[in-house]
Amino acid sequence: MTETVTLKVDGKEYQLPLVTGTEGERAIDITRLRAETGLISLDPGYGNTGSCESAITYIDGEQGILRYRGIPIEQFEKNPNFIEVAWLLIFGKLPTQQEYDRFSEVLTNTANVDEAMKHNFQGFPRSAPPMAILSAMINALSCYHPEFQDVDDPDQLEAVAARLISKIRTIAAYAYRRSRGKPVIYPDPKLRYVPNFLHMMFSQPYDKYICDDVTQDAFNLLLILHADHEQNCSTSTVRMVGSSQANLFASCASGVSALWGPLHGGANVQVLKMLQTIHDGDMTPEEYVRRAKDKDSGERLMGFGHRVYKNFDPRATVLQRTAERLFKKMNKQDPLLDIARKLEEITLSDSYFVERNLYPNVDFYSGIILRAIGIPVNMFTVIFAIGRLPGWIAHWAEQNVSASPRIARPRQVYTGNPETRYVSLLDE
Ligand code: CMC
Repeated sequence: MTETVTLKVDGKEYQLPLVTGTEGERAIDITRLRAETGLISLDPGYGNTGSCESAITYIDGEQGILRYRGIPIEQFEKNPNFIEVAWLLIFGKLPTQQEYDRFSEVLTNTANVDEAMKHNFQGFPRSAPPMAILSAMINALSCYHPEFQDVDDPDQLEAVAARLISKIRTIAAYAYRRSRGKPVIYPDPKLRYVPNFLHMMFSQPYDKYICDDVTQDAFNLLLILHADHEQNCSTSTVRMVGSSQANLFASCASGVSALWGPLHGGANVQVLKMLQTIHDGDMTPEEYVRRAKDKDSGERLMGFGHRVYKNFDPRATVLQRTAERLFKKMNKQDPLLDIARKLEEITLSDSYFVERNLYPNVDFYSGIILRAIGIPVNMFTVIFAIGRLPGWIAHWAEQNVSASPRIARPRQVYTGNPETRYVSLLDE
């Protein structure tokens, strides 16, 4: 028998069904709320609202658990393979060797963008933010691939997913090279996903960048840890846009825009700026923490806090280990890593942070790793987007290919003028 909760309004009682997820989390199904009661729910920021049922990613914010299709993210730490995880997220199970080889082959064969797209890159000023270019160029892929407009065709999913996952890295590298006025480096079909991206970023026509195993593993892991996070701002945006039956390119381009903001993917840039400010001596860690606690300052400690994680962010834990490992193997020191450790230490014993459950999030250590690999700060959020893409595709597909979606269309509580007569204030 379906469990229900009782809602009492104006002396009448309504039974609302309870829905229970795999891990026992419960939700009140209000699908019929308005039809039966005339009421809607109000939840700015959606902190209490489940927008869908999803089988992709499970998060327990209290326990610090994150699982992709049931697998805890820590289990990807040993032999990190971003493409294997991308397949897992999109298709719901780990790929067989045959599936993996077939997918990898398409990734390799479609890594180039249409030669004509190079003119689009030339059209941007050198100072253009790479996130703006990334969003625009992913959208532009719709112009070059009209064959992938049919959102309902499940047979197209593998082909379009492989192309987008492959091309996003080419677009990202071209955007960077454009910003530096450097010549475009074409993808190398002999290289795997991560070394190929770093080759397009850092090789010179006369000098090929060689990616060592430590860097390759750290980068793969970083992409994996960003690969999905259920109904976050950018993924919800992708689902929202996709619900209008917009194609995958258009939907993911909007995801890039949503990710750009400093409260979402853009936080990794702000973390680095914060650490650099402290390092340059403009402020001590203690002063920074004081400012972050002062609501009048309008500042926050970037890389701290999360809407869902209230104990620790498991991605931050893995990334901290990765950073320590990378620096040890590279035999490198970074004063910014020392400052990050210091900030974490201060906040752990500061009642403001403890009482509000504010811990380092995924963005706190990712920038330090990217910096060690040589990625410039203005590319940090772009790397986040490359990592998050399989998650966006998985959610878009779960909603649009596997089910019959309803267009997303929230309601509102109107608080504006009552009916007002039109009396123009313009001169006759
Ligand atoms: N520094 C100082 N105070 C903070 C911070 C912070 N980083 N984060 C939250 N607070 C305070 C906030 O002022 C509020 O205090 P009070 O209860 O006294 O008003 C309380 O903690 C709860 O904050 P909130 O804004 O209601 O929390 P939220 O769930 O709406 O916001 C957040 C989550 C991630 C936007 C926020 O913690 C934040 O702005 N963090 C810094 C930016 C950041 O690192 N973003 C990356 C998030 S992880 C990657 C991703 O998913 O994109």
